[in-house]
Amino acid sequence: MCLETSVGLLKMKNPLMLASGILDMTRRTMENFSDAGAVVTKSVGMEKRKGYGNPSVIELEHGLLNAMGLPNPGVEEYVEELRGIKVSNLIGSIFGKDADEFALVARKIEGAVNAIEMNMSCPHAGSYGAGFPTEMIGEAVSAVKESVGIPVFVKLGSENVMERAAEAAEAGADAIVAINTVRAMKIDIETSLPVLANIVGGYSGPAIKPVGVRCVYELSKEFDIPVVGVGGITSAEDVIEYMMAGASAVQIGSGIYYRGENIFSDICGELKTWLETHGYESIKDIIGMARKAQ
Ligand SMILES: Cc1cc2nc3c(=O)[nH]c(=O)nc-3n(C[C@H](O)[C@H](O)[C@H](O)COP(=O)(O)O)c2cc1C
Repeated sequence: MCLETSVGLLKMKNPLMLASGILDMTRRTMENFSDAGAVVTKSVGMEKRKGYGNPSVIELEHGLLNAMGLPNPGVEEYVEELRGIKVSNLIGSIFGKDADEFALVARKIEGAVNAIEMNMSCPHAGSYGAGFPTEMIGEAVSAVKESVGIPVFVKLGSENVMERAAEAAEAGADAIVAINTVRAMKIDIETSLPVLANIVGGYSGPAIKPVGVRCVYELSKEFDIPVVGVGGITSAEDVIEYMMAGASAVQIGSGIYYRGENIFSDICGELKTWLETHGYESIKDIIGMARKAQ
């Protein structure tokens, strides 16, 4: 049973990637996921950022709510951490305030990674995330494409996803990654106060899966570039749903909290069983099936 897939020029031994921001700050924690088809780094910017105070992550009924605030050591220090890393494919997640900053960070990380993921979707980091203006996306993607010779993916959130993806695709993005966490909050009714130190955060895990599947379906229908699905995946069935919606590969973040660090090898085993019992020879055969049925 073949689990190999590709996202444009990036070839993967299986369709599972570690999503940005979950146990991927250090080389050692990332190497725990060498059974994944690819590992996406923590998002990194030009300057060091401390991030927000605690509480920064809490568990809710159907998912996790976090507001980390893009903590990172700055790209120059982070590149040293990435040297010699042993994972299948390493994707460098980067953020910036404008085209020049994105291009600068991309150039600095290029030598250490196999592809770039431009994070334009963190829902609680102002213009470093989902607040990055839609009309500046094209310029930023073009600047990064001109600056590096490796594939450039653009990670978007669920809000205005089609409009933002159109800007990215037009400027030459090699793939769209969707979705990031969904802007959300939790209030403690005994104290009447918001629980997160940052007040507002991003919701991830099982609750957001239908939102992610919808975005992947619409994106893959509209654009000719590959789509990577992310949001709420905890099982092989979730992976299959995203791929039938049109995803060429998927990412898993919060799923590690629910199923542990073996989630990648466990899901690969479950995928093989599901595909075999349903008469498929390769996982690629199911990509976009839900769309083709229309
Ligand atoms: C604690 C935490 C930190 C995250 N940090 C980042 C980040 O630095 N960059 C990014 O693009 N996404 C970040 N994300 C979003 C995830 O990559 C992913 O898009 C989102 O959690 C939905 O997937 P999931 O339901 O599998 O977790 C973070 C998510 C969590 C839970």
